[in-house]
Amino acid sequence: MKTRITELFGIEHPIIQGGMHYVGFAELAAAVSNAGGLGIITGLTQRTPELLAQEIARCREMTDKPFGVNLTFLPTVTSPDYPGYIRAIIDGGIKAVETAGNNPQKWLPALHEAGIKVIHKCTSVRHSLKAESIGCDAVSVDGFECGGHPGEDDVPNFILLPRAAEALKIPFVASGGMADGRSLVAALALGAEGMNMGTRFIATQEAPVHENVKQAIVAASELDTRLVMRSLRNTERVLRNDAVDRLIEKEKTLGAALKFEDIIDEVAGVYPKIMKDGAMDAGAWSCGMVAGLISDVPTVKQLIDRIMREAEEIIGGRLARFAAG
Ligand SMILES: Cc1cc2nc3c(=O)[nH]c(=O)nc-3n(C[C@H](O)[C@H](O)[C@H](O)COP(=O)(O)O)c2cc1C
Repeated sequence: MKTRITELFGIEHPIIQGGMHYVGFAELAAAVSNAGGLGIITGLTQRTPELLAQEIARCREMTDKPFGVNLTFLPTVTSPDYPGYIRAIIDGGIKAVETAGNNPQKWLPALHEAGIKVIHKCTSVRHSLKAESIGCDAVSVDGFECGGHPGEDDVPNFILLPRAAEALKIPFVASGGMADGRSLVAALALGAEGMNMGTRFIATQEAPVHENVKQAIVAASELDTRLVMRSLRNTERVLRNDAVDRLIEKEKTLGAALKFEDIIDEVAGVYPKIMKDGAMDAGAWSCGMVAGLISDVPTVKQLIDRIMREAEEIIGGRLARFAAG
């Protein structure tokens, strides 16, 4: 399937694997790229630019297809070494970068000069237009359903995607709640040029996370995520567990007085415990409502092939019948 996104990134299928903290290692990125999608290594999961350079080299050993790196610009006081990470990306010969969080404008000239295409993840039309105006090549439009940070506007994809299509000239992919061939066809119908998936890719054989994480996603329904940290304007959609219940209780009790320090046990440094050790109640971890649509743990290739087959069947079968009247 050819779309403006497959053309932009030189990939076979319009499917991107979004950056995911402690999930987006070389194993998953390479598997997605080998299956014809765009795999993404999560930059900041690598503690230093040198480690990111090694991870890029490791991924290159596992695939000769294009893959990208996610760089999340956090509103933290002590900023990560972004210039170092950018250098590792450029020197590593990467041609696709997914940016997220704060405005990436400052870094665009260096990335573009190195021939890198930049797709910025946005949770609103407003931010998508900003990304277009500063020169991003594409955007990933992340609806309210998404795992991770849906922003503060709470607009689901059935509204957000057609609004983005009305407003944008650059291509965009639909992100949040995407799981299968139906998602891809719906995304295309609403004006997107492909889809970005997070949660769905965690429940795959190659995702280098503990089996407990995959089984938690398979067991979860669409009712099992919660939004946390809203009062800190850092809303995150996470899978409900003991730590999340505790966190929500603190939010209720402290109300507007809640500070980050109050919930540090539930949110800081918890990812390795969950993703590596499988300690499922160790803290809050991002997960999308789409968990309700996930009931198996296929290989990445099985998943992507299935999505493309389903999408083509829907377009050529069910939808073609409607078009014929
Ligand atoms: C466990 C997990 C960790 C994530 N970490 C990041 C991250 O570090 N940076 C980022 O830009 N997005 C991150 N995301 C968001 C995903 O890239 C993607 O936008 C989102 O998962 C899409 O929604 P979905 O889960 O419904 O597919 C994360 C998502 C999950 C599920």
